[in-house]
Amino acid sequence: MSGVVVWFTGLSGAGKTTLAKALEVHLYEAGHQVEHLDGDAVREHLSKGLGFSREDRDTNIRRIGFVANLLAKHGVIVLVSAISPYRVTREEVLAQAPKKLEVFVDAPLEALIQRDVKGLYAKALKGEIAHFTGVSDPYEPPLHPDVHLRTDQMSFQECLDRLLEALERLGVDV
Ligand code: PPS
Ligand code: ADP
Ligand code: MG
Repeated sequence: MSGVVVWFTGLSGAGKTTLAKALEVHLYEAGHQVEHLDGDAVREHLSKGLGFSREDRDTNIRRIGFVANLLAKHGVIVLVSAISPYRVTREEVLAQAPKKLEVFVDAPLEALIQRDVKGLYAKALKGEIAHFTGVSDPYEPPLHPDVHLRTDQMSFQECLDRLLEALERLGVDV
């Protein structure tokens, strides 16, 4: 059976990592082979040394996409959580996945500035981080995401339920 690539895209602090981690635990407990590729973690290894220019972000996303698609070909459910701000690059890597879900993890910038989990927005707004997505760098939202989660309006559990329903529609036993 072919695996699935579940691709979480969205601004920093929107909830990509939190939701991917929770889904990973759920799917593992349901007996699936599952792997999580998180932007922050990948940037410490596979993409070490890359920055946040368009070129470097695209390189990062193509590397993640390459690994995700390889794993999915062997039946793994791969959860990717990376900002992946450029639509055309997301579409390029997802076009190669056997089965896929594009998940838009969405909340208005004001809510994310309030959350500011890592304190990055405060720094970006003071001009201390250049090219910060949503503040001083672009983010192109998916036009037709398979799952659209408004994390400022929906509870964590609601978001998880919506993800499980979408996977079930793809034929995954959840
Ligand atoms: S990308 O655009 O997909 O290549 O980004 P990604 O690999 O997901 O890395 C995003 C994480 O890097 C931190 N960070 C920044 N994000 C956006 N813009 C700038 N300039 C930046 N600098 C550092 C931040 O922790 C991001 O993680 P998340 O989980 O999204 O907060
Ligand atoms: P990202 O990986 O997109 O940068 P994180 O998962 O690190 O985001 O942070 C998201 C923050 O938002 C966490 O502190 C999380 O508890 C909070 N949060 C609030 N509501 C939700 C929700 N419905 N889904 C996911 N995270 C949520
Ligand atoms: Mg994250």
